[in-house]
Amino acid sequence: MVKAGKQIPTAARERCQALRTSIARHNRLYYVEAQPEIGDAEFDKLLKELEALEREYPDLVTADSPTQRVGGEPIAGFETVSHQVPMLSIDNTYSPEELRAFDDRVKKGLEPADSPSYVVELKIDGVAISLRYDAGRLARAATRGDGERGDDVTANVRTIRSVPLRLAGDSPPVLEVRGEVYMRRDELARLNALREESGEPPLANPRNATAGTLKQLDPRVVAQRRLDIACYDVAPLEGVELTAHWDTLAALKRYGLPVNPFATRCESIDRVLAVCDEWRSKRHELNFETDGMVVKVDAAAHRRRLGATSKAPRWVIAYKFPAEVARTRLTNITVQVGKTGTLTPVAEMEPARLAGTVVRRATLHNFDELARKDVRVGDTIEVQKAGEIIPQVLRAVAELRPADTAPFPIPSECPACGSAVRKDPEGVYLRCLNPACPAQIKGRLKHFASRGAMDIEGMGDVLVEQLVDKRLVTGLAGVYELSEAAVAGLERMGEKSAANLIAAIERSKGQPLSRLLNGLGIRHVGAHTAEVLAAQFTTIDALMDAPLEALCDLYDIGETVAASVRDFFDTAENRELIERFRAHGLALREEAPAGAGPRPLEGKTFVVTGTLRGYTRDGIRDRIKALGGRPSSSVSAKTDYVIAGENPGSKLSKAQKLDVQVLTEDEFERLAGGTP
Ligand code: IVH
Repeated sequence: MVKAGKQIPTAARERCQALRTSIARHNRLYYVEAQPEIGDAEFDKLLKELEALEREYPDLVTADSPTQRVGGEPIAGFETVSHQVPMLSIDNTYSPEELRAFDDRVKKGLEPADSPSYVVELKIDGVAISLRYDAGRLARAATRGDGERGDDVTANVRTIRSVPLRLAGDSPPVLEVRGEVYMRRDELARLNALREESGEPPLANPRNATAGTLKQLDPRVVAQRRLDIACYDVAPLEGVELTAHWDTLAALKRYGLPVNPFATRCESIDRVLAVCDEWRSKRHELNFETDGMVVKVDAAAHRRRLGATSKAPRWVIAYKFPAEVARTRLTNITVQVGKTGTLTPVAEMEPARLAGTVVRRATLHNFDELARKDVRVGDTIEVQKAGEIIPQVLRAVAELRPADTAPFPIPSECPACGSAVRKDPEGVYLRCLNPACPAQIKGRLKHFASRGAMDIEGMGDVLVEQLVDKRLVTGLAGVYELSEAAVAGLERMGEKSAANLIAAIERSKGQPLSRLLNGLGIRHVGAHTAEVLAAQFTTIDALMDAPLEALCDLYDIGETVAASVRDFFDTAENRELIERFRAHGLALREEAPAGAGPRPLEGKTFVVTGTLRGYTRDGIRDRIKALGGRPSSSVSAKTDYVIAGENPGSKLSKAQKLDVQVLTEDEFERLAGGTP
């Protein structure tokens, strides 16, 4: 029996409609126009109001409501679907000569009087996708697959915030849009930081990360990883009038679809080459990865005349940028033991210049990976910056391998404590199972004392090594039991520095709960999660007693994280640790944020670039937060201010491009209500 919902009052129906229109508009302003009119908080308020209305009147819920992005349960697998118009691939070129040859072929294929215009776009490195809209509503999203048939990934693509569930404006009855789903670099960095916290291998580059995310069977996981989309074409279906690509891009924008962030029209191949050349270096400043440019004939009539081979259209070509790869010598492979006992092989190499920095070490992730790559000490290796961020060992150059090399032996015992090692249940990592392993204790202590955690000045890596080797500290609480005399007895430690260290340890007792939570090294809990937890629970006791459901309910905290927090506080030794902290007088609470003082930066988002005179990186973040502002690491149209110090990076140019207000350090101080 269908249960009839409550009678819906007209006012509620109208409010629901008004909210949806408003949400769609703000989404478009944000994702398509890059000109938001409201901030995150206000946007969330609209969404929350709509959710509440729909909860009260479930009959109001429709599939294209912005509250329905994340579907229900995980699915068993993806259905294969056929593309009505095949998704062809495109040919590649690698040199100006090849690009000129393309221009010659195009001209030969057209009438002598025709002079073709081109549109040049960034070639975003992600996963090709086809979106089908029926009567303006997102009906299906499919991967390219073999070009004829792909996977139906609708449930996953619906979670991408920049994909409109409903088109705006005068969209045709059926519209099939093609584009690239991708992951921004800062999002990959965020994800990899979380993965590192939880002992998972990092995702190698944004393209793999995107492909892996789209293949997730649980849309809720996809929703947590923020993907983006850039649309670049429309399939020629009946009822879709195409005159020129440039107009197609404009139409896509009108429908509320985000298009390629850079596209320009060029009247000659010389101009095309100049644009490509400009982006060869400028692309490193982008927050997403590009592997080249795509050059397209603009006029639809020209395209029709040129047609396609069985493989690729004749009116389009990719101009690929060379990947930055460096060759160097592998001097050693060391094995690191992390704070959770994970054994990680690390490649040590002769310094190599790569994409503007010098690389000396690169993680080899795990021993399976090492065996697969079979890199050996003495090899000449090729290294690459994956996603321009993490240096990665690509391969050993076989023809340059010296005669006397051997595969690196898989350790059977922990290099730090000699206990047996075991593969973890997921079967990827070797782990040292000895909780008293000095390498693990050192890892935990270094993290505990680090700047993002308890920020104990003077307790650097060298000192931690000594403290553990001399057995002066055997666990986190031991930090607070150190005597000045014991510290003064250590190498390179005078009485003065010992006193300073003890004072710094004493000061750290006042650190807010969020810092402590980060410092505890709870699996899956890094700085961000720690802040969310501390803001919500305020005291460690409230958090320790919080039921699993209360943890799961928090924004930004999923089941895995919640379970890990619960697990940590359900373990007797950890509760004991907290009690020892309490006995030593640690604050164990978050400072009361609201009403604690003036909050002149309330609701404003700040990004810092360059070196500041008066603050460390963490220092300025703390100050912004204390005054009610929100520090962020990447510049977007939603950023309110960028604080620029000495030697600012690409964030400054990004701010200027997006018209974000740039402040000097003094101007920031004035805004903050202090004196510069
Ligand atoms: S046009 C028939 N434009 O690159 C023309 N492709 O190597 C279809 N890509 O499969 C492609 N950015 O996934 C086009 N601005 C752009 C693109 C782009 C990324 C991808 C696309 C395609 C692959 C070919």
